[in-house]
Amino acid sequence: MIILETQRLVLREMTQADLSDLCNILQDEDVMYAYEGAFSAGEVQEWLDRQIRRYKEYGFGLWSVVLRETGVMIGQCGVTMQDYKNTKIMEVGYLFQKQYWHHGYASEAAIACKEYAFDKLNAKEVYSIIRDTNIPSQNVAIRNGMTRIDEFIKHYRGVDVPHFLFSTKKIL
Ligand SMILES: CC(C)(COP(=O)(O)OP(=O)(O)OC[C@H]1O[C@@H](n2cnc3c(N)ncnc32)[C@H](O)[C@@H]1OP(=O)(O)O)[C@@H](O)C(=O)NCCC(=O)NCCS
Repeated sequence: MIILETQRLVLREMTQADLSDLCNILQDEDVMYAYEGAFSAGEVQEWLDRQIRRYKEYGFGLWSVVLRETGVMIGQCGVTMQDYKNTKIMEVGYLFQKQYWHHGYASEAAIACKEYAFDKLNAKEVYSIIRDTNIPSQNVAIRNGMTRIDEFIKHYRGVDVPHFLFSTKKIL
């Protein structure tokens, strides 16, 4: 199911057919450094299953980002509910295949997801939770109109990792 389209991209729900493209993203050490390492085959399948559960439970999740021109699945971007200080916040998240970095695709997709959250999901504020050392991701958040509003620790695979909270509010 297609969720939204931008000038260069189509965002659609993931299916089992996306597994091998997802492996290209989630099993690449360079892509996954912010998550404390590449995923095993089992972890990729769990990740895909989680997105499909999210579509059913919330109506949204991380979606496949497809390049309009070629039909290739180049990354993932979407909206998920994330834990933050005893509450749940609506996060715009993004992970792209390395060969498609540095073309503005992540920012184009993230801006569209933010607008989708404001317009279709009734969000008043959306967030991105980003590791302190992940400068490219912070730059996407800034291009998405966000500013840094907090700093906190997240626990990944037994490691305490400092993260920044970025956010932007809907202009009423
Ligand atoms: C986060 C991530 C998606 C950012 O990718 P990115 O390529 O830096 O971001 P964009 O796709 O928005 O591209 C921006 C770059 O394209 C350039 N660019 C080229 N053409 C462009 C265009 N038409 N429009 C906008 N920017 C363009 C920009 O100048 C910028 O250049 P830079 O990389 O030298 O700064 C990528 O680093 C990634 O997948 N990382 C691993 C996963 C991850 O950490 N996810 C976030 C977890 S919080």
